[in-house]
Amino acid sequence: MANKEDNLKKIISHSKEYGFVFQSSEIYDGLSAVYDYGQMGAELKKNIKDYWWKAMVGMNENIVGLDASIFMHPTTWKASGHVDAFSDPLIDNKDSNKRYRADVLIEEHVEKIRLKTEKDVAKGIKRFGDDFDEEQFRATNPNVLRNQAKIDDINARFKAAMDNDDLAAVKALIEDLGIACAISGSKNWTDVKQFNLMFSTEIGSVADAANTIYLRPETAQGIFVNYLNVQKTGRMKIPFGIAQIGKAFRNEIVARQFIFRMREFEQMEMQFFVRPGQEMKWYEHWKAERVKWHKSLGIDEKYYRFHDHIKLAHYANAASDIEFDFPMGFKELEGIHSRTDFDLKQHEEHSGKKLQYFDPEINESYVPYVVETSVGLDRTFLAILSAAYTEEKLENDTERVVLKLPAFLAPVKVAIMPLTKKDGMPEKAREIFNNLKFEYNCQYDEKDAPGKRYRRQDAIGTPFCIMVDHQTLEDNTITIRDRDTMEQERVAIDKVEGILKEKLDIRKALS
Ligand code: GAP
Repeated sequence: MANKEDNLKKIISHSKEYGFVFQSSEIYDGLSAVYDYGQMGAELKKNIKDYWWKAMVGMNENIVGLDASIFMHPTTWKASGHVDAFSDPLIDNKDSNKRYRADVLIEEHVEKIRLKTEKDVAKGIKRFGDDFDEEQFRATNPNVLRNQAKIDDINARFKAAMDNDDLAAVKALIEDLGIACAISGSKNWTDVKQFNLMFSTEIGSVADAANTIYLRPETAQGIFVNYLNVQKTGRMKIPFGIAQIGKAFRNEIVARQFIFRMREFEQMEMQFFVRPGQEMKWYEHWKAERVKWHKSLGIDEKYYRFHDHIKLAHYANAASDIEFDFPMGFKELEGIHSRTDFDLKQHEEHSGKKLQYFDPEINESYVPYVVETSVGLDRTFLAILSAAYTEEKLENDTERVVLKLPAFLAPVKVAIMPLTKKDGMPEKAREIFNNLKFEYNCQYDEKDAPGKRYRRQDAIGTPFCIMVDHQTLEDNTITIRDRDTMEQERVAIDKVEGILKEKLDIRKALS
């Protein structure tokens, strides 16, 4: 555990040192759970957005994009259920006055039990090596079975309590599990209360209830209220999807953990409109497609895990998370939800407008069902950054920190360097830089010794460094250095564009 905490600290400090992420309004001591993306972070974030957009909108003829506003008519949030039901169950510790999310306390307790099993499995592997039958161990070992039964029992009690809106039962569960406050160590808890997560403000100059509007807590509703506009003007036929990237706001209570849980964050969402009765087929389809997208980033599979929801959101009939092994453990990265016709029916009812689709294939009108994929941009950023962060011992007993980012997502694609500031090398390097900058985000760097410059580029994840040296002036060749292998290859300058094009091509990843 200490190791994981250390990792998070290292990522936070690396992010700050190299201009990826800064705390918001830092000069005023920051604003809790709000962050700014620096010069490198803004590039990486934009590249992730573009890659998602390309995979969803560019690669699917039946998916189109949308850019809806953050402010929406307040009735939107009444219809969607967010005014009445978008809340977290909160509990306070009376001794530390620290506020917790009751569901998170229970989830963390379950995770501790699960980790006991993983520890037993790891011990078995260590002791018996290849002779260890992990599957059989998990299916028959009495400790493992006892732990699983505990987990199932806790999950069942929690689900029943939440389904019945029985907050006293949630408190009883926390007490029965003996969960203590991490600060005071006491089990002296208040009752559990619901707390709405939406931020509100007033529109116009008069502050009365009629003017209250909300900062959207999800981008999805902008898609729902525009679905017929897009369907009609785009002549879309079901099944079709609408994709959107944008800011969302939630007054999160457990607002720690860096950019994992923020009060202002970005979502990349896609609503896929289907014929009623076909939603499960599409739900499975999009689950598989989204896993493929994550895998296309080249991150080791051990970082991912699926988790089917026990407690379904008010709008869903099936839901599953893609979880990622973040520096603070496995947590939700993306949600795939079968949202039924809940949202569109609610908007029909509250707006009085018909939101039906006439399906020429079956000669029927209906309100479509919706399958949603919803991934946090900031969480994707953190996942990619933390999987990429590598500390390496080098042969000459030195160390380097390198971000092994997927090359096509790297903030800077190529750094161009003259070996020295003399003999026309800077001019030659500038010439190469000026040619490549049209296509790629490049850096020109002539300061410090070459080794130091390579380390700087490694630390921001630049996949390729081009060095102009004495030989360049004689035969028009340069060396191109690979970030991960650190190998340098000498090539003719007129071959550089072709090499970069091949190495940075997203075709392989996308297909
Ligand atoms: N439209 C469905 C929806 O909003 P969600 O599971 O509440 O579903 C979707 O959110 C994704 O948005 C999450 O999987 C997560 O990646 C991201 N997300 C949610 N709350 C967040 C927060 N406070 N900070 C950063 N990302 C968040």
